[in-house]
Amino acid sequence: MNSRKIILDCDPGHDDAVAIMMAGRHPFIDLLGITVVKGNQTIDKTTKNALHICQYLEILVPVFQGMDRPMVIASPPTEERIHGESGLDGPVFGPLKKEAEELHAVGFLISTLMASKGDVTLVATGPLTNIAMAMRIEPRIIPKIEEIILMGGSYQMGNVTPAAEFNIFADAEAAFVVFESGVKVTMCGLDITRKVLCTTDIVKRMSTHTNPASKLFSDLMSFFIESQKRTFGWEGAPLHDPTTIAYLIDPSVLTLKEAHTDIEIRSEQSYGRTNCDIFHLTNKPFNSNIATDIDVDKFWDIVENCIKMYSDINLNEYTL
Ligand code: BDR
Ligand code: CA
Repeated sequence: MNSRKIILDCDPGHDDAVAIMMAGRHPFIDLLGITVVKGNQTIDKTTKNALHICQYLEILVPVFQGMDRPMVIASPPTEERIHGESGLDGPVFGPLKKEAEELHAVGFLISTLMASKGDVTLVATGPLTNIAMAMRIEPRIIPKIEEIILMGGSYQMGNVTPAAEFNIFADAEAAFVVFESGVKVTMCGLDITRKVLCTTDIVKRMSTHTNPASKLFSDLMSFFIESQKRTFGWEGAPLHDPTTIAYLIDPSVLTLKEAHTDIEIRSEQSYGRTNCDIFHLTNKPFNSNIATDIDVDKFWDIVENCIKMYSDINLNEYTL
């Protein structure tokens, strides 16, 4: 299988961190760069977190800092409840040596896509601000995007409001631009991410591989499991963002349904809702592939395989 060229646009974030780990070494993925956006925490914190993860796991890709606020609305609050004060509470990293690139994330998206042959996929695991800004500044990138695979939305219930999921709620105007762009959008929403609950048994299973990736996974998930339990009462943490990378590695992990999706930007109560026309009630043309189911066992096997790929870095001798 040829490796897919991707740019990972994220806001780390515990589950974003696992997505970076999975994309960082897999032979089916050619990670061109990581672009960072404000979301789970401020842009300075999410950028720092992305740099720490790359440094710790020796992932040698450039990291670009992006938008520090949504396109139109005032910045919504960050997600301290779920991800803590740093945005990545749990792991303790050494001094940070890796630096973000000078170029802005939006500039990197535009220059990479313009120079491409139409073979770059964007994977988005945070608010869609960077991608929508790039589309608005340079619309010629739109036909160059092979696919957008995103974690966000829900055709059922939300998690920030009854109607809306965090990544879409945090910048619904940006999501509107992306879903209306004409690019093929694959949406991994809460409908499936709530099925992949990381329990303490899963952490034990992943911890049998003694390497930096398994240690990072365990340190992240110990905090994440607690915060999810406190906030939502789940007996495990939904590993939202890694579903996008699992799908890239093995598309058969997801069941998809084509549908038209509208993003609600006018309603006060339902701002940020993804109205996915799963039953084709409106006859509007399809603009999205909605994930409706996930093979949970296959998903954890994929995560475990990705963790194993870091076994050449010896944890005991590993220094930052
Ligand atoms: C999404 O919101 C963030 O808190 C997570 O990182 C994930 O991308 C889930 O709603
Ligand atoms: Ca995220």
